[in-house]
Amino acid sequence: MRTQVAIIGSGPSGLLLGRLLAGIGVDTVILERVTREHVLGRVRAGVLEQGTVDLLDHAGVGARLHAEGLEHGGVSIAFDGRLHRIDLAGLTGRHVTVYGQTEVTRDLIERREADGLITHYEVSDVALHAIDSDRPFVTFRNGGEDLRLDCDFVAGCDGYHGPSRAAIPATVLRTFEKVYPLGWLGVLADVPPVDHELIYSHHSRGFALCSMRSQARSRYYIQCAADEKVEDWPDDRFWDELRRRLPREVAERVTAGPSFEKSIALLRSFVAEPMRFGRLFLVGDAAHIVPPTGAKGLNLAASDVHYLFAGLREFYREGSRSGLDAYSDKALARVWKAVRFSWWMTRTLHRFDEEGAFGQRIQEAELDYLVHSRAAETALAENYVGLPF
Ligand code: FAD
Ligand code: DHB
Repeated sequence: MRTQVAIIGSGPSGLLLGRLLAGIGVDTVILERVTREHVLGRVRAGVLEQGTVDLLDHAGVGARLHAEGLEHGGVSIAFDGRLHRIDLAGLTGRHVTVYGQTEVTRDLIERREADGLITHYEVSDVALHAIDSDRPFVTFRNGGEDLRLDCDFVAGCDGYHGPSRAAIPATVLRTFEKVYPLGWLGVLADVPPVDHELIYSHHSRGFALCSMRSQARSRYYIQCAADEKVEDWPDDRFWDELRRRLPREVAERVTAGPSFEKSIALLRSFVAEPMRFGRLFLVGDAAHIVPPTGAKGLNLAASDVHYLFAGLREFYREGSRSGLDAYSDKALARVWKAVRFSWWMTRTLHRFDEEGAFGQRIQEAELDYLVHSRAAETALAENYVGLPF
């Protein structure tokens, strides 16, 4: 079989790229390792930058997002028993939208199905071939059959563990990594959120984050050790610990209830360079991972898609390769700024025992400066709402 752009991975980056290309008449086939239900069942990010919302609108999948998403003009930082609101809208003129990655994925999958476009689920043994030639192809197994997909380009949208990045020769690829000695225990529960906006809390017992999916569904996270197990955290223990890490006036308002999702994510920063090799382009988590503290992972996947889509549109409409040639440099310039911001948010808000009393005092000074300096607040706000594409 043949397509113009072979997309590996049906996460948000693969689906969004596929939808944008469909809008300009470019054919795609998506190859996905797991089932449709598995893809739809993943609970991950929740905060969309304006640029991501604009791109979803451009892709024609923004209707439900605008009807059900929650626009937030501010975010709070808690420390020292107090809450400090950062006026995102006042400082930047922009806001963020709370709308779960699960919903973004659902909207894109349903649109792809309505468009009649092909996704092969539950494929195995995906391998990339001849990506440094003009005739790349992908081989895979599907339903007991060995298949071959010829294409003009391969979009590696297959996340951190996928085969795309591994197809770039080690002599070409350079990687950068920082692993943080902590995890996030996340819980979803159908209880009203504690506040109308998000609260990021720095506390001597560890970081906590109060987020939401709707007026009736809360998403909470607490810092835990990297080797902890979900089984060690029955709901009661989770709610008690969350409350202890929040200012008292906030803790008193937390509504507890049975959780229906609970998982632990480990925190790391990772970047692979370059993001292009021959006719293969890495997109989203396949090329970079950020710790979740700045809510940047999904938004970075969207900005990569923006740059790659622009390059492919130029190629198919005008026969020019200049946008594709610029893809890696353009995407990486934005990626590194988000990596820096996520690292800074992580470093400033978590408890790091190994940094000792000196490290704790530096964090306190940083937070005190943040809430007393309009310049520092603006720097946080600009990065949080998203730097321009
Ligand atoms: P993915 O969503 O990872 O999609 C990749 C797809 O490729 C998957 O569907 C996968 O099954 C498929 N694939 C993998 N291997 C193969 C293969 N061999 N063959 C075919 N298909 C393959 N970001 C935030 O901003 N906030 C959060 O709270 C947050 N929480 C997260 C929690 C977890 C557990 C994880 C893993 C990520 C989280 N992120 C979060 C990051 C955010 O979800 C990602 O940045 C985003 O999903 C990136 O989208 P993507 O499409 O590039 O990759
Ligand atoms: C959510 C996740 C984040 O990493 C974050 O910074 C804010 C919100 C969430 O899942 O709602």
